[in-house]
Amino acid sequence: MASVPERGFLARIMMRKSVQQVQEETATSELKRTLGPWNLVFLGIGCIIGAGIFVRTGNAAALHAGPAVLLSFVIAGLVCGFAGLCYAELSSTLPVSGSAYTYTYTTLGEFAAWIMGALLLLEYGLAASVVAVGWSGYMVSLLADIGIHVPATLTGPAGHARELADGTVITTLFNLPAFLVCTVLALLLVVGVSESAKVNNVIVAIKMTVIIAFILVGGYMVIANYDTLSANWDPFIPPPTGQEGEFGWGGVLRAASIVFFAYIGFEAVSTAGQEARNPQKDMPIGIIGSLLVCTTLYILVSIVLTHVVNYRDLNVPDPVAVAVDAFGPQWAWFATTIKVGAIIGLTSVILVLMYGQTRIFYTIARDGLLPGIFATVHRKFKTPWINTLAVGLGVATAAGFFDINTLGDMTSVGTLAAFGIVSLTVVWLRITHPELPRGFKVPLYPVLPVAGVIACFALIFTVETRVLIFFGWFLVAAVLLYFAYGMRHSRLARGELRVIAPEMPEFPEDAPARPLGSRAD
Ligand code: ALA
Repeated sequence: MASVPERGFLARIMMRKSVQQVQEETATSELKRTLGPWNLVFLGIGCIIGAGIFVRTGNAAALHAGPAVLLSFVIAGLVCGFAGLCYAELSSTLPVSGSAYTYTYTTLGEFAAWIMGALLLLEYGLAASVVAVGWSGYMVSLLADIGIHVPATLTGPAGHARELADGTVITTLFNLPAFLVCTVLALLLVVGVSESAKVNNVIVAIKMTVIIAFILVGGYMVIANYDTLSANWDPFIPPPTGQEGEFGWGGVLRAASIVFFAYIGFEAVSTAGQEARNPQKDMPIGIIGSLLVCTTLYILVSIVLTHVVNYRDLNVPDPVAVAVDAFGPQWAWFATTIKVGAIIGLTSVILVLMYGQTRIFYTIARDGLLPGIFATVHRKFKTPWINTLAVGLGVATAAGFFDINTLGDMTSVGTLAAFGIVSLTVVWLRITHPELPRGFKVPLYPVLPVAGVIACFALIFTVETRVLIFFGWFLVAAVLLYFAYGMRHSRLARGELRVIAPEMPEFPEDAPARPLGSRAD
């Protein structure tokens, strides 16, 4: 082991990996360049469409924005557009297959990379819990349709009062279905089950079909019954109640931070850099294309949703199915189809998010910033199994005990901060390394990246103070952990040359296909 050279404090925590080093680390992957622009768009959509549109839109409309939730989607989509362009520039400048953690390690340095790792834990790990709670809502509803009733106390977060259809009020204890789905998926990930590009495309097709069918049938209903249904859009922006973030423009912005969740995942495209046939051209198409497709779908879904059901009635676990119920009893089969489609789509999003989280931990552990046990690979399955079990348990526990709104807001805040830092990285890199060849450049520099930084950080401050306080403590804990552990065990600081994936070549030939949309770092 090389001795640790003396360095100033700032120089120490800002130590960077060289781009060349990261490229060497990923050189073993030998991934085939098979993905064209459409595969990349599909890859993005596979990660993007999930609990955000199927679940959280209802809450955002019912409690914060009313029918104007569609404006919230436009605002959140714009913020993601700024960040998406920045991701596209970074992925074409730093040609490594990597997540924001790797980008940050090669630009802003180790401490910033560590903080980015902590933010990604919210963006991936906690997001998986949110999607699992959404999955549970649709599953419980589907089971009830076929006469299986999960005890209501086992279908919600700890200590939440809920009024049942017969008027009795119960206190939920635990979300059992959400806990179980995470546990089962973690076990599948341990044995190496993952999604190939083909499976991803099939699941994306199912999700898109369900959503487009909802838009078409619902759109027809709205047009046919416009005289009565238009009343649901009056007022379009309900007047503020006086409580912060409840309706009015304040509510529209609060809802933007909620539905922002629906866009998380588009940057997964940037992790497929080594598999893209023509990354310089196709990555921006993949990122911006998937964002545009999803924004359009989200706006259309929210138009239908808030027309067919009054926004006040949308604070339910399965708002899209509730809207289909409103089409009339002859559409009951369609509501069931929507539930099945949502469950399939949400399952794949949980799988991809959990996979991404385990690989982020794996990469951080290989850098020495987390204990080596997170990089221990199972002899037979060739997966980081202890890491995967730990992630599964954490994700399942959060999904079992916490409510979707708190989890979702924490995810949004963490992801907004991550996107803000990514936008900042673009500016930093343009200033410090103007000479680097860039396959794609953010247009209107510096306006767009700076707008990205401002918009991301501004949206963070629209969430509830309670969530901001949680987030503050989370960051304090992350900083303390860095100084207590990460900084002392960093392999970069020790001058150790990276031994490339001693136990697990990133994608060995005999390993199962990498789930598309995952981060391999
Ligand atoms: N955007 C993903 C979802 O809505 C995380 O589920």
